Amino acid sequence: MNLVLMGLPGAGKGTQAEKIVNKYNIPHISTGDMFRAAIKDGTELGLKAKSFMDQGALVPDEVTIGIVRERLSKDDCEKGFLLDGFPRTVPQAEALEGILADLNKKMDYVINIDVDQEILMERLTGRRICKECGATYHLVFNPPAQEGKCDRCGGELYQREDDNESTVKNRLQVNIQQSQPLLDFYESKGYLRNINGQQDIDIVFTDIDQLLGGLN
Ligand code: AP5
Repeated sequence: MNLVLMGLPGAGKGTQAEKIVNKYNIPHISTGDMFRAAIKDGTELGLKAKSFMDQGALVPDEVTIGIVRERLSKDDCEKGFLLDGFPRTVPQAEALEGILADLNKKMDYVINIDVDQEILMERLTGRRICKECGATYHLVFNPPAQEGKCDRCGGELYQREDDNESTVKNRLQVNIQQSQPLLDFYESKGYLRNINGQQDIDIVFTDIDQLLGGLN
């Protein structure tokens, strides 16, 4: 099962990715998570990525493509993978075609979680994440039982640095610009499947699950 999850910032990629990988037991490869881990560890990659991420800009293609090539070559991707947030530009999509061909793999679906732009600001500025286990919440749409604490592990919840209003504005603008050509690219290849992301979180997952059930 070789999948790409697409959607504008806040569309629900991370939320749905967690459910997909739990059910289908494939690795979750999020370029955003990889960059955040590198920043936390103070690596060279983290230093390169930080200035772009702080502004809500995209990390340059050559950096991003390199880390995805390396990650997809690992043994745990033999049984499949879920790419989340990659590709985000047509050059990245073209590079992915080459990487998959080199690894003798084929794409199954590119799942686009479709959400109106107007509601994304509220989703992102209200998002909170667990410091310990990474679970995602929303102050209004998916609140924890106890304010500031993770339901799953009791960890402290925090707000991502790029979820402030001005950085979110820029992230949305940059991603909206890149997304249509990318959707056109995958539509023309026949991989694209659109999912309505403006439904309850569990209903969005049911729709994705139905689609993926057809692959088994
Ligand atoms: P990344 O980490 O990928 O962030 P993003 O694309 O901006 O997406 P988000 O993680 O913000 O949103 P999401 O769609 O996962 O939403 P979530 O499920 O959390 O990238 C960060 C940065 O890294 C980029 O800006 C860039 O600098 C760099 N980068 C990463 N990949 C790159 C690439 N390929 N090329 C270049 N640069 C790259 O949900 C959001 C909120 O909504 C949550 O609070 C959630 O609880 C809530 N929610 C989710 N679903 C629903 C629902 N159905 N109804 C109501 N609320 C919902």
